[in-house]
Amino acid sequence: MIKVAVNGYGTIGKRVADAVACQPDMEIVGVSKTSMNADAYVAKARGYPLYIADLSKRADFEDAGVPVAGSVAEMITKADVVVDATPGGVGLKNRPMYEQHGVRAIYQGGEKHATAGFSFNSSVNYDEARGRQFVRVVSCNTTGLVRIINEVDRAFGVGKVRAVMVRRGGDPGDVKRGPIDAIVLDPVTLPSHHGPDVQSVLPHIEITTAAMIVPTTFMHMHAVQMTLKRPATREQVIELFRAHSRIGLVKGPSGIRSSAELKEYMQDIGRPRSDMWENGVFEESVSVVDGTELWLFQAIHQEADVVVENVDAIRAIASDVPAAESIRMTEEALGFVALG
Ligand SMILES: NC(=O)c1ccc[n+]([C@@H]2O[C@H](COP(=O)([O-])OP(=O)(O)OC[C@H]3O[C@@H](n4cnc5c(N)ncnc54)[C@H](OP(=O)(O)O)[C@@H]3O)[C@@H](O)[C@H]2O)c1
Repeated sequence: MIKVAVNGYGTIGKRVADAVACQPDMEIVGVSKTSMNADAYVAKARGYPLYIADLSKRADFEDAGVPVAGSVAEMITKADVVVDATPGGVGLKNRPMYEQHGVRAIYQGGEKHATAGFSFNSSVNYDEARGRQFVRVVSCNTTGLVRIINEVDRAFGVGKVRAVMVRRGGDPGDVKRGPIDAIVLDPVTLPSHHGPDVQSVLPHIEITTAAMIVPTTFMHMHAVQMTLKRPATREQVIELFRAHSRIGLVKGPSGIRSSAELKEYMQDIGRPRSDMWENGVFEESVSVVDGTELWLFQAIHQEADVVVENVDAIRAIASDVPAAESIRMTEEALGFVALG
């Protein structure tokens, strides 16, 4: 069994912990937080030993009825792999601690590429992650872009990508984030950071991205355009996506035209926390103009798509399970079913 600690039990960390806990070859040895709140009760209810970054706060937890197993430094001595899901920038500060204990760590997209020195996507570079001490799972938007660009590139060759990201303002629990009534250019200049981030996984892809933030909490929406080096039909592209387990097709007869309806659908099919681990490519939007210009819309559930990548990243650095087998195991344990 691979022993996994989740340092940072928040939006991403709590999902990764649950996904790890249901894998046949992994176990959770602990999760961590800094302050007492509802997530501490969730960790207790799930049976995860809870560690805290600052032991002087132990009484805040224990007075609230949540036992503290020890410090974060103690937690990582019990782990083969630490999934660092602390807020962006904290992971860099944690790196000396991981180095000192010789423990492997997986960072999230809020950290810079340089923090790990290797940016991961299970469909692209699983084998290259093998044996590394540090790996970074790229952000939710980058993961969503990399999945489709890589598939299209392998089949037809991608000449140039242009993508516009309409980003959610905050996660559902982020009551202090906005905007409340604005569309914010993020940033006003081009490119947004997403294009260069895609190149941290797919360095040969020419890509320009722009982004704006809107007042919604569930999912980003991407408008993507790619020029193809070899001609393709719409049907060939759809077939390509259908064959990739992490590219879901949102079918026309579902009547779904929005992130809100997609969330309702995820909820109704019984996904934990309404999570959509796949890209949600709107099948009817997939268009090929003049044989070499591909257009599509896709929804990306920011809280969910990176979760499955984290599970594969754990196997990539701490086991000899091949990529395809890891992807299959991750999805089988979670109970993936095709969208539609
Ligand atoms: N949310 C998303 O949509 C999303 C998507 C993809 C990637 N990411 C990336 O994932 C990472 C985590 O983001 P998140 O949204 O999950 O953040 P989050 O919801 O704010 O959760 C962060 C967690 O880290 C804990 N924490 C903070 N400082 C810590 C420390 N020094 N030691 C141990 N735990 C500490 C926090 O605990 P307390 O609350 O107790 O302080 C909280 O549980 C970031 O790199 C982010 O960019 C986020």
